[in-house]
Amino acid sequence: MPSPGLLVLFGSQTGTAQDVSERLGREARRRRLDCRVQALDSYSVVNLINEPLVIFVCATTGQGDPPDNMKNFWKFIFRKNLPPTSLCQMDFAILGLGDSSYAKPDAAVDPWLRDLWDKVLGLYPVPVDLGMIPAGVPLPSKFTLHFLLEAPRMCSEEQRVTGTDPHGPPSEQQPFLAPMVSNRRVTSPLHFQDVRLIEFDITGSGLSFAAGDVVLIQPENSASHTQQFCQVLGLDPDQNFTLLPREPGMSCPARLPQPCSVRHLVSHYLDIASVPRRSFFELLACLSPHELEREKLLHFSSPQGQEELYSYCSRPRRTILEVLCDFPHTAGAIPADYLLDLIPPIRPRAFSIASSLLAHPSRLQILMAVVQYQTRLKEPRRGLCSSWLASLDPGQGPVQVPLWVRPGGLTFPETPDTPVIMVGPGTGVAPFRAAVQERVAQGQNGNFLFFGCRWRDQDFYWEAEWMELERRGCLTLFTAFSREQEQKVYVQHRLRELGPLVWELLDRRGAYFSLAGNAKRMPADVSEALTSIFQKEGGLSGPDAASYLARLQRTRRFQSETWA
Ligand code: 2AM
Repeated sequence: MPSPGLLVLFGSQTGTAQDVSERLGREARRRRLDCRVQALDSYSVVNLINEPLVIFVCATTGQGDPPDNMKNFWKFIFRKNLPPTSLCQMDFAILGLGDSSYAKPDAAVDPWLRDLWDKVLGLYPVPVDLGMIPAGVPLPSKFTLHFLLEAPRMCSEEQRVTGTDPHGPPSEQQPFLAPMVSNRRVTSPLHFQDVRLIEFDITGSGLSFAAGDVVLIQPENSASHTQQFCQVLGLDPDQNFTLLPREPGMSCPARLPQPCSVRHLVSHYLDIASVPRRSFFELLACLSPHELEREKLLHFSSPQGQEELYSYCSRPRRTILEVLCDFPHTAGAIPADYLLDLIPPIRPRAFSIASSLLAHPSRLQILMAVVQYQTRLKEPRRGLCSSWLASLDPGQGPVQVPLWVRPGGLTFPETPDTPVIMVGPGTGVAPFRAAVQERVAQGQNGNFLFFGCRWRDQDFYWEAEWMELERRGCLTLFTAFSREQEQKVYVQHRLRELGPLVWELLDRRGAYFSLAGNAKRMPADVSEALTSIFQKEGGLSGPDAASYLARLQRTRRFQSETWA
């Protein structure tokens, strides 16, 4: 029987489901099966009808929501008019994964995959004369890199790819290079956290957005990491190359210019500051010419080595660059063709937009906490995007940042008199700054904001602005300063204190309830406060209060945007 086209479709938020899918793809290729691996929303669902065998690998995100790259597909399968016979012809399997806080999915995935291959090979046996490609032999790389002897002038660091439609709005394929106007620390120097208010000029970009939308920013590696990487791998950063896909029909990453310099590839594309996944060790082991290093790498990629890999890599958040430095003989021998198989692309980061075009025309602002923490490793861990942005200083010369926008999880009522209760502790207040500005500019009343921070004089963002709006009667503000008294006071405590008002707004005046922030327990705590208000003020039973909240969620009068 000829090899069927096996299709793996994934919905992935943090990359785990994608990693498992790519592993499936590699295991299929070792079994001589044709296999394509695609994000659900980049696949045209009408073609499903022609697929003999499909494997769906899906994660969840937020409060059990579908990942961004499968949202359209998710809507599609709930369509009432989906023809009942449309998907009957294909064999399929589904693998559901928890989110990235589920640190070791391999333990569950390994036996599932063994079982899967038994079933698939029962249907489509490997041709006897060819057999499987053994585990230690690397599969062909996806691309080939052709180094150019002469450096064409056009291939400069500044060169950017131009997308297919120069008139469309900025997108991942064609970001807008936004000049950074300002980058200002808004927490006091005493405060433990460096939080920045960053402003971009979007004049002439074609970008437009409303309150609740998010901006995606494509970060880059630092010059020193880029240089260190090139050194360990023995690459010349100034060399130029062109990239060719090995298989016909496959395209090159749209974000890479052609030709491209090694420096540009490393600084703008390869995510060398990310924590490597198991597949990285698997491929590295295949490529290693050094016996000792190879043995260790093989162990890390084996099922028995997973605990050790977890404590070597995932727990201390060791990066790809650091691992390569630990395996110098292997790193120095990596064929350039394999760079894109080995190292994932840098992912764009999403930030809630903190300003409204109605208040700041041609400007886009974000409120960003600079991510930095210590693990048992000597060097502090730094968030790639936030440290990069924080390091940019428009006072020293022009700075441009690639960005585009998309709708976020929050929308606000358009009617003039529907009140909105906004709950945004810490940087969670960012989307509400945009919402309040937009609503005030449109004359919409009933803006109730619950803000929480540690200290009034250290991390109270936009204090003067809120006070001015209160004075003008456009805003009602409730604050919770968690550390100004013995007992912690959080936004949910204020909500409970104001139970009668909250109930009146929600039940009698049809208010929206909008929640944003990054505290891990905060969303659950706020929901709990709400259900207890429904019981106390509305006289509802426990189960009735829960279904009241569920109804608010279903009708999108309760919305949330939370991040880890
Ligand atoms: P803390 O750091 O003093 O514990 C912004 O980060 C504010 O959110 C801080 O005042 C922080 O308090 C508070 N916060 C922390 N955990 C929270 C939770 N579970 N619910 C609500 N607010 C929380």
